[in-house]
Amino acid sequence: MFKNKGFIFTLAVLFLVLVVGFFTEGKQQAKTTSSITNTSDADAKTSYKVGLLQFVSHPALDQITAGVREGLKESGLIEGENLEIVFQNGQADQSKLTTMSQQLINQGSDILVGIATPAAQALANQTNELPIILGAVTDPVGAGLVDNMEKPGANITGVSDKAPVLEQLKLAQELLPDAKKVGILYSSAEDNSKYQVAEAVKIAKELGLSTEEFSVPSTNEVSQVVQVMAQQVDFIYIPLDNIIANAMPAVVNEANKLKVPIITSADTMVAEGGLATIGINQFSIGVQAGKMAASVLRGEAKPATTPIYTFTEGDLILNEKQAEFLQIEIPEKLKADAVIVGGDSK
Ligand code: TRP
Repeated sequence: MFKNKGFIFTLAVLFLVLVVGFFTEGKQQAKTTSSITNTSDADAKTSYKVGLLQFVSHPALDQITAGVREGLKESGLIEGENLEIVFQNGQADQSKLTTMSQQLINQGSDILVGIATPAAQALANQTNELPIILGAVTDPVGAGLVDNMEKPGANITGVSDKAPVLEQLKLAQELLPDAKKVGILYSSAEDNSKYQVAEAVKIAKELGLSTEEFSVPSTNEVSQVVQVMAQQVDFIYIPLDNIIANAMPAVVNEANKLKVPIITSADTMVAEGGLATIGINQFSIGVQAGKMAASVLRGEAKPATTPIYTFTEGDLILNEKQAEFLQIEIPEKLKADAVIVGGDSK
């Protein structure tokens, strides 16, 4: 009897294990099935094509483009699964930008992303309907891209990387207390720079600095213009200008010959041999633009009513090697808060 009971007990336990196992497995299967159904449902509606147009190659725009890809990914849009990205680089050539914009539209993009002002303008010239996301456009209103920062009004919204010019010039004065004259270097073709140059001239005067503007028509003239300006100014200020960012190694090379410090508007330009800036992290600009693209694609947001995103805080970026080379003492209290980046100090 006793033995028998034990046998029955063992059987019962075995049976229980089997039954529980069966149900758990069943549940798991049910779960997998339902999640498969969900994704495939979603897939049917959410396979998107993004047309990405970058104005030119320079480290900042390259990081912003990488950030856009990351922002899309973080929003659940995965390349090869539910997302196709068609990428074009306009190489600072107006006619290329126009052709590429047309191609991106003709290839059936669901949304367009313009990295830097001239790229966004080229896209906007081709369509009033297809949504366009601005990646790092300094002054969307001044560039004629939107009516209003809060209510863009049409098919365009996105991210502005407007720089904290006052903080940047105050930083210049802290690092270079004897400086009296600032030379502002930019390319005459970029609407983004026009805005920031006007702002810098006004603020510099308020801070007691005299200013002179040096504009270049294209990359080819950069070295020559920097040679001239380096003889006339105490430091060089560079706005968020793409042609200058693209020619940064040449700028640093010429400025270093006369040991003229460069205050930039982006961390990437400090890494390449600028002295310092207070700037917005470039990658994070792209991530934000990518996320906005995803929510417009999913129908969660409409460009017309989605405010342009702006950043409120920049990071203090210093190039210590460059400071050493220029024999500039960095105050300890600045160092404590700064991101130190290495760079050219030939
Ligand atoms: N804001 C620039 C524009 O509107 C693009 C840009 C982003 C940029 N980051 C930069 C330019 C860094 C120079 C350096 O076109």
